[in-house]
Amino acid sequence: MTAIDLRTDIAYQQCMRATCGARYGVEESIFECPKCGDLLDVRYDWSRAVLPKKLKDFEAKWAHQDDPLAFSGVWRFHELLPFAPRDQVITCGEGRTILQQADRVAKFVDVDAGCLFLQYEGLNPSGSFKDNGMTAAFTHAHLVGATRAACASTGNTSASVALYSAVDGRVPAVVLVGSGKIAYGKLAQALDYGVRVLQVQGDFDVCMKRVKEVARELKIYLMNSVNPFRLEGQKTIMYRILEALRWEVPDWVVVPGGNLGNSSAFGKAFQEMVELGLIPHPPRLAVINAEGADTLYRIVNTERLTWDGGRVDEPRIAAFYKQMEAEKRHAKTLASAIEINRPVNLKKCLRALEWTRGVVEKVSDQEILDAKAQVGAGGFGCEPASAASVAGVRKLRRSGLIGHKERVVCVLTGHALKDPHATVAYHTKTDAELAAEYGGYGVRSAAFGNRPVVVADDLAKIVAAIQA
Ligand code: F0G
Repeated sequence: MTAIDLRTDIAYQQCMRATCGARYGVEESIFECPKCGDLLDVRYDWSRAVLPKKLKDFEAKWAHQDDPLAFSGVWRFHELLPFAPRDQVITCGEGRTILQQADRVAKFVDVDAGCLFLQYEGLNPSGSFKDNGMTAAFTHAHLVGATRAACASTGNTSASVALYSAVDGRVPAVVLVGSGKIAYGKLAQALDYGVRVLQVQGDFDVCMKRVKEVARELKIYLMNSVNPFRLEGQKTIMYRILEALRWEVPDWVVVPGGNLGNSSAFGKAFQEMVELGLIPHPPRLAVINAEGADTLYRIVNTERLTWDGGRVDEPRIAAFYKQMEAEKRHAKTLASAIEINRPVNLKKCLRALEWTRGVVEKVSDQEILDAKAQVGAGGFGCEPASAASVAGVRKLRRSGLIGHKERVVCVLTGHALKDPHATVAYHTKTDAELAAEYGGYGVRSAAFGNRPVVVADDLAKIVAAIQA
């Protein structure tokens, strides 16, 4: 298996709607099916592909760290996303993330020691999992000759777009963020890396709608996860998890759900690996919504809608959104990264849930912040949205759906420093102060708060405070 053998003429785009199925070349920059408007998949004629016989064969790449594509945690799996030749790839060392066995957190969520693993995607160059997708999308942007890029964002997408735009230097970008809706760390990155930042008077759902219109009108390359090339990059998070588990499939992969790009990509990764005979079966996927942004939860658990082999009941989804609009229901959660009520990848996620016998749970902001403090206490830490995965496992353990001996991997999507405000508030405020400031989000206490001690500039008092 050498990179030189890689064939990229086997890639194409295809409409995901079974009754349409229209095909397009990878050189097209379209983002929705021009015939029916549905989402597109990147697909491959695997019969003509150059593939490893087994996943373990990818380990040969570890010996070639001087090759930027083997160094990247995304492109060292190039054979499983072969849509672009090597010389088109834009990479900056993304995807070198770690899987950590987390026994303390295992205790918190009530699974046996040795059974809970945390996949730290916050260790990417821009501090979130988005870089896995953005390296692929910028690569595709080059392939199609894009001269400008745009995205809507709750923060991390904009930080990642800004980073790749700066590193690449050939595709300037504009990012649309909801005014006051994104965490400071993320806004700081977009500003610092030099993209044009539009603070739109509205939330993420508004920005998403507008950026699609803008991309269409100005023919700007769209960097959101409606772009199927992004999802190709995000598949590699799953390859790395398998790699870290010595190519064994865990029982569960648990991920927060926002725009549902990750869950869609993870489902596709596993479906393809099963199809190619690289794994015997997929793990089960659990997607965790915040209570205040629970569209997927409602669609799956209340409306009982499924992918149904491609016959998803679209009129009922449309009716659901109409009702949401009539009720003027807007997403509201302290986990601002997943404060999304109209996930663009809803149907792809339903498909992934079918492929993986997946489930959907929702957790409160209180549960999210408590879980976040537990993750933080184990080192590395994560931002609030990421901790929804851990809070979700705890809830699914309580309901008995996840067994205490099952091997569970939580994907921690973003770095702790993305949202220091939430962390500092949790650890420094009294319960009364928390309730006053965050009561509207249902947050009233900090069970795992690590309160700083205020002490006078006096040696005896400092010593006493240390010994206390
Ligand atoms: N976790 C973090 C830290 C995120 O930033 C996001 C999404 C998600 C989870 C949800 O992932 O969309 O694949 O379901 N952030 C996007 C953004 C929407 O604009 O940064 P998803």
